[in-house]
Amino acid sequence: LRARDIENIGHGPLYRRLQTAIKAVIDDGILKVDDALPSERDLANELGISRVTVRNAMRALVEEGVLVQRHGAGTFVAPRVEQALSRLTSFTEDMITRGMKPGAVWIEKTLGHASPEEAMALNLSPGTEVTRLRRLRTANDKPMALEYAVVPRAFLPSPDEVEKSLYDALAKYGKKPERALQRLRAELFDGETAKILGVPDGSAALYIERRSFLANGTPVEFTRSYYRGDSYDFIAEMQVDA
Ligand code: GLP
Repeated sequence: LRARDIENIGHGPLYRRLQTAIKAVIDDGILKVDDALPSERDLANELGISRVTVRNAMRALVEEGVLVQRHGAGTFVAPRVEQALSRLTSFTEDMITRGMKPGAVWIEKTLGHASPEEAMALNLSPGTEVTRLRRLRTANDKPMALEYAVVPRAFLPSPDEVEKSLYDALAKYGKKPERALQRLRAELFDGETAKILGVPDGSAALYIERRSFLANGTPVEFTRSYYRGDSYDFIAEMQVDA
């Protein structure tokens, strides 16, 4: 890896470009599973950049599952299975990754009782107390999705706990989801939802339903979202079996 490689790769903040550059080195097989990365200090010296930049890039790669940190031993290339799994991210994180400012406009925040469908999705007995959040999600202040999240009240005592990000609020209670099942389907916006999103009646929508779980398998979230078909791409990374 040379300073030149980072300057010429991708765009955005330097740490993002370093992140892409390190990933490319791994994808090209120059660094293999379990290989150690140089220390933060060595890499910073070698590339003539700050340690903070190196640290941020490494941290992002650990979060992405590309690298693993082993205490006292250093940073290593993560096993491929971990890398092949899709990353579970929040709307807030998704928009920041795309260089956009995430936002939310509240439509409904209430406490209620799980409907039969919600109870089934969250593995609760019907009527259990739930927290409901209906928000218009924006990116750079532009409407992007209509999102309706239902969380057992035991995990989120009140919708007022959510300032900007649902996942940040859940993290405060140690209930950040670790795994999720997601279903995507093509739909059309009807009159009411179209109006909220500022698109013509009957335009294309991407319906995304997510059930997410704690590490022990307890369902923590049942969310139904309608993304604008003209503004949102869902990207999946794929690979043939080894
Ligand atoms: C995505 C998912 C939702 C999830 C949300 C959390 O939009 N489709 O299921 O609730 O992210 O995002 P945030 O933490 O920004 O509220």
